Amino acid sequence: MDIKNSLSKFKSKNVSFSNFKLKLSKKDKQEINKFYELNSKNTIPNGRDFYTIDDDYIDQISEFTSPELCKIIIKNLNEIIKGSNKSNAWICINFNTYRTEYRWHRDGTFYLNPRSKYKFAFTLIGPSTCLLDFDNNKMIIEKYNKLDLLAQDLYKDYNNNKEKILENQRKKNKLFSNYVVVQNNNDTGCVFKVGDEKSAFHSEPLVDIDLKLFRLYISIVTGSKKNIEVIKKHRSR
Ligand SMILES: [Fe+2]
Repeated sequence: MDIKNSLSKFKSKNVSFSNFKLKLSKKDKQEINKFYELNSKNTIPNGRDFYTIDDDYIDQISEFTSPELCKIIIKNLNEIIKGSNKSNAWICINFNTYRTEYRWHRDGTFYLNPRSKYKFAFTLIGPSTCLLDFDNNKMIIEKYNKLDLLAQDLYKDYNNNKEKILENQRKKNKLFSNYVVVQNNNDTGCVFKVGDEKSAFHSEPLVDIDLKLFRLYISIVTGSKKNIEVIKKHRSR
């Protein structure tokens, strides 16, 4: 499915996420493998934000990744911007983000006027983001919201509440233990709902910490130039 179809399915049906095929040629896949071979043993900085409103964002991405990988990312980024009928985007490129326990959560909104309603994500190397095939069960949502209110309080003093936050997350995770976890292959991206009660529950993938698995994960929020300026201002605080 292409991005436009994926988005319209997502908007018309009562689903919290939808998938689309990435644009990856045979040569692209070879370049991704090459990048993996060269970098999987190195320590790459964990994650960085880029904004298409910056004139030099392509150079920035190229420097952070590699010129070859940058071309692949930009090609898919442009497809996503075009497919969502917007002019700009915030791109977050992450390496090696994984967990030993799920962190089921929903994302809030990224900008208002009009409110951002979805986020794109794809993984070029390693295990993909986990999405929950959830039926919006009211009782579970109520329990989750109560726990989340508690968590918001705990986060105000993060350093002193680390253990309690972990315990809170474990309780949240227990609520979803009977649901199916969906994980895409590296040639498939997803778009998921953010910012309201029907947002998609998602988590970083689980990885045995000893394996130190290399992962390259990209998330994108599209919008107008003004929308992306709002995200940039908020994220650079
Ligand atoms: Fe998230």
